[in-house]
Amino acid sequence: MKVGIDQIGFYTPKWYVDMANLAQARNEDPNKYLIGIGQSKQAVIPNSQDAVTMAANAADTILSEANRDKIDLILFGTESGIDNSKSGAIYLQHLLDLPNDVQSVELKQACYAMTAGIQLAKDHVLAHPDKQVLVVGADIARYGLHSAGEPTQGGGAMAVTISADPRILAIEAESAHYVADIMDFWRPLYATEALVDGKYSSAQYIDFFKRTLTMYQQHTNTELSDLSALVFHLPYTKMGLKALKSILNETSESHANQLMKNFEASRVFNRQVGNLYTGSLYLSLFSLLVNADDLNSGDKIGLFSYGSGAEGEFFVGTLQTDYKKALHADHMQNLLRNRVEVTVTEYEAMFNSQMPLQAEDFETNYREDSAKFYLAGQQQQQRV
Ligand code: HMG
Repeated sequence: MKVGIDQIGFYTPKWYVDMANLAQARNEDPNKYLIGIGQSKQAVIPNSQDAVTMAANAADTILSEANRDKIDLILFGTESGIDNSKSGAIYLQHLLDLPNDVQSVELKQACYAMTAGIQLAKDHVLAHPDKQVLVVGADIARYGLHSAGEPTQGGGAMAVTISADPRILAIEAESAHYVADIMDFWRPLYATEALVDGKYSSAQYIDFFKRTLTMYQQHTNTELSDLSALVFHLPYTKMGLKALKSILNETSESHANQLMKNFEASRVFNRQVGNLYTGSLYLSLFSLLVNADDLNSGDKIGLFSYGSGAEGEFFVGTLQTDYKKALHADHMQNLLRNRVEVTVTEYEAMFNSQMPLQAEDFETNYREDSAKFYLAGQQQQQRV
């Protein structure tokens, strides 16, 4: 039985900052951000959006009368959790008006958590083929104003439904994992911004990619040339480019050109949003499927998921007949097209206006937010 991604939804808030302007404000050459980091725009997250509301806004776009009754499990991957105990998946189930007998769980493993959800969902559907699983990844990537990580911030959410006979991508049974206890990126409980050993994290990412790709090839007798495209977790789009370039000498020149061309298609949307943490790989997959012009049903796509700390997984999916029809590409392109640019000063003010960790009562700027789901604030330590 084929199991995999039946639908893909996306959400990012309506504000962005231009990376050339941010570079100038930071006394950097704009090409460092545009080419060296590979980002053109960065999503600016208002204080009226958090991981839960962004997840709800993404998931809402792929729920309909046709699949609501089939969903019996929500898996919500995030590393921007809003509570140390209560699961964000419960808020999601409520906001999306899904029935009370839907099992709902939040997962954490840095940027890897949405992939963990998808793989768990795949096994759930194999055991219950008439059911579907809603898997969502939502995050706010924050490193701090003037930090080296600042040009790699961003935020938003991706949502997928996992089902039997999927319309978009059937996920192969085999995959390769590599897990090691390393300190490349982490966020202590007291902190709203991540701590990171940037260069080390980028080196570890490539090491995990090469290890898991090799393991996958050995387990499955797969040749690189069997894969029409490789998509990557994209903390910044140059990261995926570096990983791809590290293995291009293992294939023919024409295949290397095909992989490079498809990589460019796979980073179009990520260039405009920045890091979504858990959702980044799936935004890149979405970008590939919408923007590549030489993919066909039956083509195999390799996916590399990486979550700091760290866990990497390489797996493969097969494109399904009419996959393009199942993508809500117009919705996503309108969302990106209709965004509003803010100046660097406005971005800094929005960055600094986040709800304080210890706020008791707080009202956000929700009146400026036109999203369907938003955070109005907090009353008596309960989010509204
Ligand atoms: P940096 O040290 O400021 O940048 O921080 P740099 O000096 O290394 O320059 C970046 C690149 O720009 C270099 O290219 C320069 O040569 C180039 P590279 O050597 O890397 O190929 N450059 C230029 N190019 C064109 N024209 C110019 C120019 N000037 C310079 N004029 C760093 C960069 C990524 C380290 C920093 O932004 C950072 O720490 N980011 C956060 C960490 C991160 O994203 N790590 C990625 C791997 S870990 C991961 O993916 C997991 C994560 O998503 C979290 C999770 O799992 O939850 C982060």
